[in-house]
Amino acid sequence: MIAKKVVISKAATRQAPGRSFEPHRNARGALLRYLRECRLKRGETILLPAYVGWSPREGSGIFDPVRELELDYAFYRLDESLGIDMGSLRGAIARGNARVLLLVHYFGHVDPAYAEAVSLARGACLRIIEDEAHAMLSDLVGAACGRLGDVCLYSLHKLLPMNSGGMLVRNTLEAGPGQPGPGENSGALWRHDLAAIAASRRRNAQHLYGLLDGMEGDVEPLWGPPAESEVPQTLPVRLLRANRDAVYHGLNRAGFGVVSLYHTLIEPIAPTAFPDSHRLARRILNLPVHQDILPEQLDAMAACLKKSLAENRS
Ligand SMILES: Cc1ncc(COP(=O)(O)O)c(C=O)c1O
Repeated sequence: MIAKKVVISKAATRQAPGRSFEPHRNARGALLRYLRECRLKRGETILLPAYVGWSPREGSGIFDPVRELELDYAFYRLDESLGIDMGSLRGAIARGNARVLLLVHYFGHVDPAYAEAVSLARGACLRIIEDEAHAMLSDLVGAACGRLGDVCLYSLHKLLPMNSGGMLVRNTLEAGPGQPGPGENSGALWRHDLAAIAASRRRNAQHLYGLLDGMEGDVEPLWGPPAESEVPQTLPVRLLRANRDAVYHGLNRAGFGVVSLYHTLIEPIAPTAFPDSHRLARRILNLPVHQDILPEQLDAMAACLKKSLAENRS
């Protein structure tokens, strides 16, 4: 038998795997664009996680495009730490009319059931959108997500010092049909040191986790510290005893920019059908860990949080 000659070229020439990046004004613009392409018919649904927020100023980044296109939708359940309820997702897919699955990598965290959820949806020929409005760096720097779905959505202003910017990322080298969205931010991603930003965010999260250790019984992080590949957008915690709104306002008054994503869920996510989502919405507080923050600022915020928790026990 003649042995096959083994060769290695000097440089790579194969194009795949590849991705294409289409700039948009924001993540919701990218979502709107892709959903238009999906051309869902009446009765065909998009499956959404049952944790989608709304505010009078910002509307709903996820639900507004769905409503604008008058799509039919259904929700799958998440647990109180935003983990995908696989039984609920399986049930929603088994109904047979779902065509698109939207997964959200909340706050940069990647659900342990991510791959299983994708594989379930693939088996039923659904298109898969990964909402990485909070998880662009977990994707670009950590490669923790963004590779299993068909497309990803980025929201640049949620992680970088920008006022706007979105991206529709296709997991193929082929550009999408039609005109791309407004391109003002197309080069912005590469003007930032994403690896350095990711490292600062991870460092800040680690530091804050240490400080939260002293608040057991009052504060419970939704998850353990980020995996090495994950880059947090914020650090979400559940307040176990204190009045969340009072703590939120107290910290902001003191100059610490905390948010509550989401304090108000969209109306179709009914409290009776999704009690876990509503319980979390009442208790969640997102602590900042962004790249501008220094460890001593986190120390001061943690001290203020501790004081506010004691003053606002309910
Ligand atoms: C999970 C999630 N997806 C999408 C969006 C929409 O982001 P953008 O403000 O870039 O449209 C938001 C925020 O509104 C969000 O929190």
